[in-house]
Amino acid sequence: MSEMANTDPEGLDGVRMTWNNWPRTKVEASKCVIPLAASISLIRSHPDIPRLPYAPLRCKTCSAVLNPFTRLDFSAKIWICPFCYQRNHFPQHYAMISETNLPGELYSQYTTVEYVLPSSVNPNSFGNPNLDPTHQLQPSPVFIFVLDTCLIEEEMEFVKSALRQAIGLLPDNALVGFVSFGTQVQVYELGFSEMSKVYVFRGSNEITKEQIFEQLGFGALGRRTAGGYQKGFQGGFPTSGVTRFLLPASDCEYILNSLLDELQRDQWPVPPGSRPARCTGVALSVAAGLLGACTPGTGARIIALVGGPCTEGPGTIVSKDLSDPVRSHKDLDKDAATYFKKAVKFYEGLAKQLVGQGHVLDLFASALDQVGVAEMKVAVERTGGLVVLSESFGHSVFKDSFKRVFEDGEQSLGLCFNGTFEIICSKEVKIQGAIGPCTSLEKKGPSVADTVVGEGDTTAWKMCGLDKSTCLTVIFDLSSSDRTNTPGDVNPQLYLQFLTSYQGSDGQLVLRVTTVTRRWVDISVSSEELVQGFDQETAAVVVARLASLKMETEESFDATRWLDRSLIRLCSKFGDYRKDDPSSFTLNPLFSLFPQFMFNLRRSQFVQVFNNSPDETAYFCMLLNKENISSAAVMIQPSLISYSFNSLPAPALLDVASIAADRILLLDSYFSVVVFHGTTIAQWRNMGYHNNPEHQAFAHLLRAPQEDAQLIIRERFPVPRLVVCDQHGSQARFLLAKLNPSATYSNAHDMAAGSDVIFTDDVSLQVFFEHLQRLAVQS
Ligand SMILES: *[C@@H]1O[C@H](CO)[C@@H](O)[C@H](O)[C@H]1NC(C)=O
Ligand SMILES: *[C@@H]1O[C@H](CO)[C@@H](O)[C@H](O)[C@H]1NC(C)=O
Ligand SMILES: [Zn+2]
Repeated sequence: MSEMANTDPEGLDGVRMTWNNWPRTKVEASKCVIPLAASISLIRSHPDIPRLPYAPLRCKTCSAVLNPFTRLDFSAKIWICPFCYQRNHFPQHYAMISETNLPGELYSQYTTVEYVLPSSVNPNSFGNPNLDPTHQLQPSPVFIFVLDTCLIEEEMEFVKSALRQAIGLLPDNALVGFVSFGTQVQVYELGFSEMSKVYVFRGSNEITKEQIFEQLGFGALGRRTAGGYQKGFQGGFPTSGVTRFLLPASDCEYILNSLLDELQRDQWPVPPGSRPARCTGVALSVAAGLLGACTPGTGARIIALVGGPCTEGPGTIVSKDLSDPVRSHKDLDKDAATYFKKAVKFYEGLAKQLVGQGHVLDLFASALDQVGVAEMKVAVERTGGLVVLSESFGHSVFKDSFKRVFEDGEQSLGLCFNGTFEIICSKEVKIQGAIGPCTSLEKKGPSVADTVVGEGDTTAWKMCGLDKSTCLTVIFDLSSSDRTNTPGDVNPQLYLQFLTSYQGSDGQLVLRVTTVTRRWVDISVSSEELVQGFDQETAAVVVARLASLKMETEESFDATRWLDRSLIRLCSKFGDYRKDDPSSFTLNPLFSLFPQFMFNLRRSQFVQVFNNSPDETAYFCMLLNKENISSAAVMIQPSLISYSFNSLPAPALLDVASIAADRILLLDSYFSVVVFHGTTIAQWRNMGYHNNPEHQAFAHLLRAPQEDAQLIIRERFPVPRLVVCDQHGSQARFLLAKLNPSATYSNAHDMAAGSDVIFTDDVSLQVFFEHLQRLAVQS
């Protein structure tokens, strides 16, 4: 957002809250309309976060980690836990602690620290001698590629070339497996370079883990070893059985490349008028089964490359008959999508298996039609997998995104494994649940609220995969017991501790601890402090996440109505006005951007789902929930920059009035980036003015938005679609769809020359505001 361009709204902690001062009671909180919620960027890097090479100290009662808000008694060597008030003795190796000799975790500015856990570091701790330097675990990440072969020749070549590139980029210690599928599933034994052996699975029926083990020939091995199948692996590294299917990346390039050279499209005959028989569900089951032989928690991901809908066996989303279209939002709405619920149930089972094993499903769906992202969403989201949706394996959205997954250094996604997220909070605070890429671990306790939102009933969540952009939204509630009766006893501050443990991309085990405090405010006295703590951008994103969750889970939920009512209630409560006098209405600047966010949210792909396919909606929602607040805000309310002669690029109103013949506009709507040339600019460009040395300024004007677009594209994952278009061109709709229709055919005559008219029945922002003011002041 422009007003925040030069500051870092997340700070060291990576935490943003809807309210930064909290009402004291459950009743008062419900009157605030926007729920108490925090969005946490779990492992966002920040140069000022210290890495501590020793294990944390934990409270013996509530297991909170020692933090800067702890009260310390240096002479008695005691610390008092801010969460449960337990007095804890410092252990022997903290004996030299004093006001002038504090360990890193007690420095007041280090509200976030990272402990690099003992099993993976040198014994160089704050006085802790009990670390074993020989225990240097360096687990190998495992990648199993699962490739759809029911593709046309051209797509097959695109995807093969992307795979060849990926294999070349894998770290040498990675282990690679390969599965292909069409009507049947083929698992390739890569251990023998002479003659690679293939195991074939039928695609038509559900298959159990035991059957998979048996057929791949590690049934016998499993039975022989007392501790079960997992004995084949030591320290995350396979020693037998599975090694036949997983090859170190350093050795496999030649074998995989020759395998890809020989790999053909699925040979099964496809009758005219039919879709190919494609058994995506069984293929993913088999890959999951194969990974089942790895130690749980080994960093392992299934990378599914899917080019069409599943039509065979479990996970089927549509029949083979081409005259039968893939389900639409209308079908889902009318409960007329024959295969939907059954397929979702299948993928819920797969999600459960993968989460149990600690493994990730990544989905790269590339097809003109839908492939079943809506059904597979649960397995991707609950395992913390990546998802990229594009129309072809040859499109830059797929190609460039896929390459980024394997890239190192600056461009790396920072893929981490085996994450656990846990919250400890002051006793008045309750947790309703989390929205985002995680699974509830169903860890019960006094902090669990009665009502559930998203992944709930817990204070801990599993994320088999997470990366540097992973964000979770936690929805809080307050205890219903009335604390105002015991004023002397009330602490003016509340505390929250967020603990994220994970295996870093470098193999290190890390525990990141963020402890934050916020102030309780008594809004029965004054709402001034409450208002000061409102974060409207975060509030807008949290409302969008809640709305999309409700649309998915609550039958006949009317999102537009719910948003309108929430907004009217918010404006009634926090606006300044005389009753029944709309013209007197004003809104505090800390709230004033919020109505416009809601206006754009109502018109966005998250609410107007009928403009998209269920696959697209599922894709948009997964990213809305996973990315940070700034990114999610752009998905809801795109940013628009205007470029013209004689002025610097400047933010422009998201309105058709911003279009002008002598301007270039750059629209960032997150999933696409649009460079839009006004008619005059387009004419000059077509006449080649920019090649004339006399028109340097024009050449520069043409170049600047393209360069800025590239900057956005380079940073983002999934890579957005770049649309370069001209006013009145067919691609211009990518811009027009996002603009406020201030000029519609009903009032087009008022508009300045050169601007555009949007043909729509949508209300304009101005009409929306007028309605809002009228309704908010109503007594
Ligand atoms: C995965 O994480 C859990 C919980 O933090 C931990 O107990 C386990 O040892 C980890 N597994 C691996 C293989 O790192
Ligand atoms: C939000 O995420 C994007 C993409 O991961 C990143 O470039 C940006 O810096 C993040 N913003 C904040 C405030 O962390
Ligand atoms: Zn405690």
